[in-house]
Amino acid sequence: MRAIYAWGMHDPRRAVAERFRPFGTTIFAEMTRLANEAGAINLSQGFPDFDGPQFVREEAKRAIDEGHNQYAPMIGVPQLTRALADSWRELTGIEIEPAVHVTVTSGCTEALAAAFLGLCNPGEEVILFEPYYDSYRACCAMAGAIPRFVALRPPPPGAPDDAPFVFDEDELRAAFSDRTRAILINTPHNPTGKVFTQAELACIADLCRKFDVIAICDEVYEHLTYGAKHIRMATLEGMFERTLTLSSLGKTHSLTGWKIGWAIGPAHLSAAVRSAHQFLTYAVATPLQHAAARAIRDGGDAVADLRSHYERARDFLCGVLRDLGLRVFTPAGTYFLLADHTPLGLGDDVEFCRYLTTQVKVAAIPPSAFYEHKELGRPLVRFAFCKKMETLERAADRLRTLAK
Ligand SMILES: Cc1ncc(COP(=O)(O)O)c(C=O)c1O
Repeated sequence: MRAIYAWGMHDPRRAVAERFRPFGTTIFAEMTRLANEAGAINLSQGFPDFDGPQFVREEAKRAIDEGHNQYAPMIGVPQLTRALADSWRELTGIEIEPAVHVTVTSGCTEALAAAFLGLCNPGEEVILFEPYYDSYRACCAMAGAIPRFVALRPPPPGAPDDAPFVFDEDELRAAFSDRTRAILINTPHNPTGKVFTQAELACIADLCRKFDVIAICDEVYEHLTYGAKHIRMATLEGMFERTLTLSSLGKTHSLTGWKIGWAIGPAHLSAAVRSAHQFLTYAVATPLQHAAARAIRDGGDAVADLRSHYERARDFLCGVLRDLGLRVFTPAGTYFLLADHTPLGLGDDVEFCRYLTTQVKVAAIPPSAFYEHKELGRPLVRFAFCKKMETLERAADRLRTLAK
């Protein structure tokens, strides 16, 4: 044992492969740990403090009792892939074949990893908008792909509260080259709450066609928009053939722990996803797939109720933060909001979130974790509002102490 210690095997700086060393522990795990230690209300990590619909949970129990407990087919159980194909047709008007175009994965997280690993050769470039969901950066590292960043910038001071973050078209154009393999579009966007417009998607689509680039679309918040229309890149002229649409059950049905996700795309892109998926996880929890099929087929009313709850939660939390003097960027989608914390004068985003968690006992995320150019995230703080109203009211009571 002693020899192993001397050799440094137990030193995490040496044990972790070089490609993962820059990432450390994800910010979500870190803030949740800090929140638990401090007894803080956790508005950091994006999981609801309530369960998904009872009829879906009952369906999972039934699937277990009825013997759906062995390996599922690699691409997913037929009940779920069929439900996804039917739902896709309703949402997009595009007819797809489950056995060819749908792949069930362990959450969108695995769909992302499988897409990057299955599509990208080392040295090829992938365009990411920053701020970005942190796994994209790590997926690039796993695949040996080189990320190119394009900033989503906050609306100028004095713009309306619901003005969106935007990208500069010239900056985007400059990021494309013959080395570009893919662009990642997350809409509705975590953490800004931006819902990409038709014009923005058309601009990206033009560049994808011109440079023969694949669009990887992370649409896990596809059903959580508040007035804005979610547009799927795959529905734009000529884009189905070069788009992989990734999503999951977790956010839409408040079942984040089930980790049921999927990738939908044309045969050649689905083949790329499957080439990695078959060796990453091979297959996903069988009984939960059966219940997921039920959620997708029969969950419409529950999703509508959830959306109106989140809209109320969003407006409540935005109001509380504005009353404290923060500039709040009202999100058009997702269950996150960004605010500019600098009027409170409590340091940068990491210092502010640490203070908030340990002293005010409300946990939030420092958004610099989502930026390559960290300085862009320093003035910001991200709150999750996917909570019961009473949780948000308790958090509000604590947050209001910041005003004293
Ligand atoms: C933008 C985005 N993509 C993917 C995921 C992960 O999805 P899943 O839990 O289905 O793996 C999240 C979770 O927070 C997310 O915010």
